[in-house]
Amino acid sequence: LSAQADVFKNPVDIYRSYIANELHKISGVDRELIYPALETNISKDAADLNLPVPRLRAKGKPAELASKWAEAFPKGYVNCEANGIFLRFNFDGSKLTELVLPMIWSKQSEYGRNNSGNGKVAVIEFSSPNIAKPFHAGHLRSTIIGSFLANLHESQGWKVYRINYLGDWGKQFGLLAVGFELHGDEEQLSKDPIRHLYQVYVKINADATAEQEKIDAEKAEAEAAGKPYETPVTLHDKARQFFKRMEEGDEEALKVWGRFRELSITKLQETYERLNIKYDQYDGESQVPLDLMNEALEKLKTLGLIEEDKGALLVDLSKHDKKLGKAIVQKSDGATLYLTRDIGTAIRRYNKYHFDKSIYVVASQQDLYFAQLFKIFELMGFEWAKKCVHINYGLVQGMSTRKGKAVFLDDIMEVAKEEMHKVMKKNEEKYAQIKNPEEVADIVGKTAVRIQDSTGKRVNNYVFDWSRMLSFEGDTGPYLQYAHSRLCSVRRKVNFTDEQIANADLSLLKEQDAFDLVRLLSQYPDVLKSSFRFQETSTVVTYLFKLTHMVSKLYDILWVQGREEPLQLARLNLFGAARLVLYNGMTLLG
Ligand code: ARG
Repeated sequence: LSAQADVFKNPVDIYRSYIANELHKISGVDRELIYPALETNISKDAADLNLPVPRLRAKGKPAELASKWAEAFPKGYVNCEANGIFLRFNFDGSKLTELVLPMIWSKQSEYGRNNSGNGKVAVIEFSSPNIAKPFHAGHLRSTIIGSFLANLHESQGWKVYRINYLGDWGKQFGLLAVGFELHGDEEQLSKDPIRHLYQVYVKINADATAEQEKIDAEKAEAEAAGKPYETPVTLHDKARQFFKRMEEGDEEALKVWGRFRELSITKLQETYERLNIKYDQYDGESQVPLDLMNEALEKLKTLGLIEEDKGALLVDLSKHDKKLGKAIVQKSDGATLYLTRDIGTAIRRYNKYHFDKSIYVVASQQDLYFAQLFKIFELMGFEWAKKCVHINYGLVQGMSTRKGKAVFLDDIMEVAKEEMHKVMKKNEEKYAQIKNPEEVADIVGKTAVRIQDSTGKRVNNYVFDWSRMLSFEGDTGPYLQYAHSRLCSVRRKVNFTDEQIANADLSLLKEQDAFDLVRLLSQYPDVLKSSFRFQETSTVVTYLFKLTHMVSKLYDILWVQGREEPLQLARLNLFGAARLVLYNGMTLLG
């Protein structure tokens, strides 16, 4: 079995291969049929591998075949028994230990990764906030889920491009420019562009509302007096004119807007770096060349897909799928739309990256939108249409900070850090031992936010709850960090070298609880595969909690201090492997 460790990189796959070989000899069924039918399940009472005999399509009654084959299966590495129409395979604890622990120690951060995606390219678009508007909970989820999916794809051998598609185009930038003339402050703009632009945007919107009320009142007055009333040029008119200049390529206008964009991106980069995220490209709605969108519209027309409705152009998708309805691709004044920009962007993205998969991590509110978008790609005949995937997710309820209703990514992390700091201070004795409390509070706080977001299935809604997520008890981010620290401290307390621990005599591990932990560790590469299959962060998070619970129980059973040296080394080997798997999983989570 060990000889195959390098080929498979995955202990469970090694057993699959072994079982497929042996069962093939007994039953004559093709290995290729047996191998994928061997299922894992991390729940406690399940067998290590389970095989539904009907899946092998062999002649005979499944239950009879199961007991016949179980009888004939060789003893040693695997215990095979029949259970109705299932074959249950349980790995021998000591042999599994001898295989898995050296594998983890030798592979280190590579353990769990595989090459299945080698040569394939994934473009993953996530976070995608709108400049001058709040970064809301939906963007937070996209950031957390997207950055994990990017790491996960890399762990499965894919080449990944991380893209942030900013909401950086549209009439609101005209309004913002008009607003900046009135309320802008250069100093604040360079200090905190994101917050300042948002403040300006709020002010100018309030101005515009007040202006409209005034106009309405004056108009009513004039009408009552029978006088003519000429509506003045409003802020919104000026905004529209400004945006029109932008769309026509007016250099002055683009310069103003371009500065807002540049400064915002610089600030965003800092913030994302704090979350260990580095983008390959800051794309945005502004970045789609007009030619490309016009070409796309021409193509739609040539294909006979465009209809006109009061000057606007639309595609009637309901002809192809009732629930998709109609999608507008050009406004009556000729302006482009969110949808048109997405069509242009996708074409550009494919030409640039030649992706095998293009993922959009966007909230479920845009389900219909993405269904329409992808249908349009398909109707336009792009062969890459089926490579586009919308990864959606549920709502976050009740997220706000004490700093106000508008939430920025920076605020969320700052509050998480401050609150975490408070929690840490409660234990004065421990607190006094921390050399860099601010840094620790920052790391644990960020972990808290990420883990809270990734504990449930992504399609579910969840309630944002500061006190619960910052707690060291229960399945929280701080608990995971604590569990990892404790494993580090077990290692620190002894004076062995890594080499001594790596070469420990593993036959000294005999306890059933030790075997259970080894089993769990052996499943980690499979857990990543299944997380990948469903693009589900919670699969990994659930696994890590299971791992940490099991480890915490083991401290009382597998004492290290005061034991004979060889036993100490064997147990440290096991704890070290557990720490490594926990570390790998947490790194993947960001
Ligand atoms: N900026 C958009 C929003 O805040 C999300 C962009 C999603 N991506 C896309 N390609 N449409 O709603």
